[in-house]
Amino acid sequence: MDKMKVYLLIGAVLIIIVLAIAIKQWIQGSPSPSSLAPHSVVTNFKGNPQTSRAFTWHTKSPDAATVLQLAPGSGVTSFDGKDVMTFYGKTSQIRLKDGVLQGVHKVEATDLAPGTRYSYRVGNGEKNGWSQPAEFETEARGTKEFTFINVTDSQGITDDDFKLWGQTLGKAFDTFPDAKFIIHNGDLTEDPEDESAWYSFFRHAEPWLRSSALMPVTGNHDEIDGKAELFLSHFNLPENGEKSANPGTSYSFDYGPVHFVFLNTESKVKKQAEWLRADLAATNQPWIIVALHQGPYGGKQKKSIVEHWVPLFDEFGVDLVLQGHNHEYSRSHPLKGNQITEEGTGTVYVVTNASGRKLNKKKDDQFYHRVHLQNGKPMFAGIRIQENALAYEAYDIDGGRIDGFVLRK
Ligand SMILES: [Fe+2]
Repeated sequence: MDKMKVYLLIGAVLIIIVLAIAIKQWIQGSPSPSSLAPHSVVTNFKGNPQTSRAFTWHTKSPDAATVLQLAPGSGVTSFDGKDVMTFYGKTSQIRLKDGVLQGVHKVEATDLAPGTRYSYRVGNGEKNGWSQPAEFETEARGTKEFTFINVTDSQGITDDDFKLWGQTLGKAFDTFPDAKFIIHNGDLTEDPEDESAWYSFFRHAEPWLRSSALMPVTGNHDEIDGKAELFLSHFNLPENGEKSANPGTSYSFDYGPVHFVFLNTESKVKKQAEWLRADLAATNQPWIIVALHQGPYGGKQKKSIVEHWVPLFDEFGVDLVLQGHNHEYSRSHPLKGNQITEEGTGTVYVVTNASGRKLNKKKDDQFYHRVHLQNGKPMFAGIRIQENALAYEAYDIDGGRIDGFVLRK
């Protein structure tokens, strides 16, 4: 074979390899970040939502600095004014399944003014290393009324799965445009070690996750055998929960007249009960809402949760428990002592179906079910809090109203 033929053959083989990789990528639908720019930017409440906000992003650069700049006001694009605040955070690294090291960037803005809109950008502090600017708002002092969004089990595999999750969240914000934050009840992705799924999770929800805090529950697809590294690498969460649990998997915070408690159903259930008792005993907030993944009244019961947590929900008068895991819609009667009780004297447990593609067949009805259905469409709920009323409204992705109820004080 002459030299020219060899070159042609090598060229053809290379073209075939490149095409094969492109086709595989296209079939799997797993795009990846194309530059060193920050991706998967998300904000959380960590300290007081009136005066602080926490941020997390990843980069392909494991050594890049972690810098946040913000300025009061909407539509700020230049971050060199006198009122710009700069915060420096921590860079850590996470090794992905393919062995690649990814930069994990976490920072918290503090001493913010309540009820104020801020523009911000995150990056490595160098000219070309910044994200696009986005905006968020701190909680107003004395907030008596607000709305938040509840979704659960986005649990996708492919980029297309997460496109659907993004559409669900988009519809939720179309329906409840004044929602202040999102509670996600766990199972954000199917495989917590698949970073391409996390990338798609954030990419398709970017417009909302960059401005509204996302407060996640830890599900059985987020923490497996006590390990939740990649899940937790994507969030900057309160660490005021049970010390023996993974930090950021049990926590509580206040917003308006509500005390929110997040529990980790995947490990340390009994230990969390001790923390839960102290946490609930210490709050004077009129409303208590608990968020957890494998709920006591939503499907197959975890015995330890019914034994250790439900008596505390009863004792401290938890109003509403947001559950996940079952991938069907359910709402319980008001319950106390494992029995149906009078309106206003027990705890209501809901599962807001799932927000992604995976929807389960409706399971058998149980004594506690008041509403129980599967209409085959991803769902979301908006929860409006007032001092004397809590209104829950659930919709499917097409705007169909599925259920609604009001709890009163
Ligand atoms: Fe799930």
